[in-house]
Amino acid sequence: MSANIIDGKEFALKVRTRVAEQVTILKADHGLTPGLAVVLAGDDPASHVYVRNKNKSTLAAGMKSEEIRLADTVSQEEVLAVVERLNADPSIHGILVQLPLPSQVDETAVIDAIDPAKDVDGFHVVNTGRQAVGLDAMVPCTPLGCIMMLKDQLGDLSGLNAVVVGRSNIVGKPMASLLLGENCTVTISHSRTKDLPAVCRSADILVAAVGRSEMIKGDWVKPGATVIDVGINRIELDTGKTRLVGDVCFSEAVEVAGAITPVPGGVGPMTIACLLANTVTAACRIAGVSEPEIG
Ligand code: GUN
Repeated sequence: MSANIIDGKEFALKVRTRVAEQVTILKADHGLTPGLAVVLAGDDPASHVYVRNKNKSTLAAGMKSEEIRLADTVSQEEVLAVVERLNADPSIHGILVQLPLPSQVDETAVIDAIDPAKDVDGFHVVNTGRQAVGLDAMVPCTPLGCIMMLKDQLGDLSGLNAVVVGRSNIVGKPMASLLLGENCTVTISHSRTKDLPAVCRSADILVAAVGRSEMIKGDWVKPGATVIDVGINRIELDTGKTRLVGDVCFSEAVEVAGAITPVPGGVGPMTIACLLANTVTAACRIAGVSEPEIG
């Protein structure tokens, strides 16, 4: 039997619509326009595409959008000065510094410099720590989007076995922490994990975030499992054309899983939607108003 294919595009549209409604209410009732600043240093073409999409979506949701482009040769001091200026700007509630940064800039030092209240990426250690102990925190957008899709699909996640493949600070670790917060039994697996296929087969929820094209095969998936594929890998076909694929071999896994996210059109669209949602959350917390409830 073929799995239910989770439509991330449609879900993201719902989240973006909800965010736009919240923004309308915040403007009308509190004179508050949430503002997001995105800092992009260097010429990475993929980063330029992401940033352009973020800018468009932010404006479409009725928010203020500021884009700061810096040269590939920018110094650490210059990046830090931009962050300081944005920290002090009352019209900006969310700051996102697009990664990777040019090699001469220390990413950790830059993330540390962002006001944790404006850290809509949820990468600052204050937010990582607060989330881990169950306090209000800004939560990284990709894992947040994955949790939203899982809860929509499965309802209560309590007691389910969740396996996260990958241990990055951006996805794997926060994903595991959020799943633990939902009362899953969580395993983080990685390149040194013994018998990874068997570990994956134990998962009711399998989250793939390793960045390796179609690494997870159909027979690694437990029948009926929910599979969330965070990978976005560009592969070259025999024809010379390129195609986006995930970390999961979709054509195999779709025959075994209960539900699965496609690539593209699964997790990807949810990330930007969650960034917008995080910006509204940050604006409300900074302004001391509660987030508008919609419908
Ligand atoms: N580069 C790739 N993904 C991300 C992300 O989620 N946030 C930031 N800041 N940079 C990224």
